[in-house]
Amino acid sequence: MTTILGIETSCDDTAAAVVSAGRVARSNVVSSQLDLHAQFGGVFPEVASRAHAESISAVVNRAMDEADLCYDQLDAIAVTQGPGLIGSLLVGINFAKGLALATGKPLLGINHLEGHVYSLLLEPADPDIDFPVIVLIVSGGHSELLLMTGHGQYRRLGGTIDDAAGEAFDKVGRTLGLPFPGGPAIERVAQEGDATAYRFPIAQTDSPYDFSFSGLKTAVLREVTVQPSSHGQRKRRRGAEKRAQLRGDIDIADVAAAFQDALTEALTRATIRAARQFHPSEILLAGGVSANQTLRHKMRAESGLPVRYPPLALCTDNAAMIAAAAHYRFLAGHRSGLDFEARSSWRLSEDVYAE
Ligand code: KG4
Ligand code: ZN
Repeated sequence: MTTILGIETSCDDTAAAVVSAGRVARSNVVSSQLDLHAQFGGVFPEVASRAHAESISAVVNRAMDEADLCYDQLDAIAVTQGPGLIGSLLVGINFAKGLALATGKPLLGINHLEGHVYSLLLEPADPDIDFPVIVLIVSGGHSELLLMTGHGQYRRLGGTIDDAAGEAFDKVGRTLGLPFPGGPAIERVAQEGDATAYRFPIAQTDSPYDFSFSGLKTAVLREVTVQPSSHGQRKRRRGAEKRAQLRGDIDIADVAAAFQDALTEALTRATIRAARQFHPSEILLAGGVSANQTLRHKMRAESGLPVRYPPLALCTDNAAMIAAAAHYRFLAGHRSGLDFEARSSWRLSEDVYAE
């Protein structure tokens, strides 16, 4: 049985976890920087990397303490190699390299998106998957639709051609004056709203498996903000998203519900088109936006297939998912040298770990 320490610092959470057999989280520590970034209404890269540097050591120590293990008992150390913010990734990577050097343990650089996929195999989930499956990864930085044909085997079918799903939630949340991150805030407010009160567009894309959210975001912005009437006013409103004035007569709950409905419908339609083509045994949802109940319900109701999603705590970034993904890579013989580099963008595809 493998026991792996995972470290994750790709965005705004400093996380470390110890996972056995790719599915039993013996510890799972997440130190969130949310309070730090909420004041900016988004993640501020400089602030994020500095906060990671300040907390990484304590977070890893706590993960080891809670697992009640010493470094000798680990089989490997895994760390998120990308995609993500370079300055943030480097903090975790350098820390993991130092640990690997000091302990002599093998080191594995792991793709963050693969981590999200493997969050689905952590306890209490059933670790057996009947491949192929369709995987939809929807987070703050990524929206990817994949065909997974085996462990570590992916074929990218499509994804967003502009904003990530979570990014669209965050931007619309900001427009509506809701707290950051926008996703959970919009979902909460939408519970009181009527999704049919507004009709927002679902964009057509060239590929049936791609989606686009920038038109939807703009449609919401137009609907809910006071539109500048003169050229002078328009100029002053440049970059208006942050400062646009909300119209007095709109119902924020209705707008939130209609926006959430349109966005999740776009994701569901593309996923179902892929399912019709590739006949998966089930649909797997992962990433921060997979916490969204409307998305989960729609996907189940409209696909007629079993739909898996992680428990709420494992939807957003964590290190248990990195250690879980590393387990399968470790068994397949994958190792990273001490000189591997952070990758700010890194798609999950057939040859994901090829140089
Ligand atoms: O996976 P994650 O923690 O970080 C990235 O890898 O990006 O995802 C964070 C994103 C944010 O954009 C947040 O607004 C969104 O996930 N999110 C949600 C919900 N919970 C988090 N979006 C919609 N509904 C939710 N309940
Ligand atoms: Zn993520």
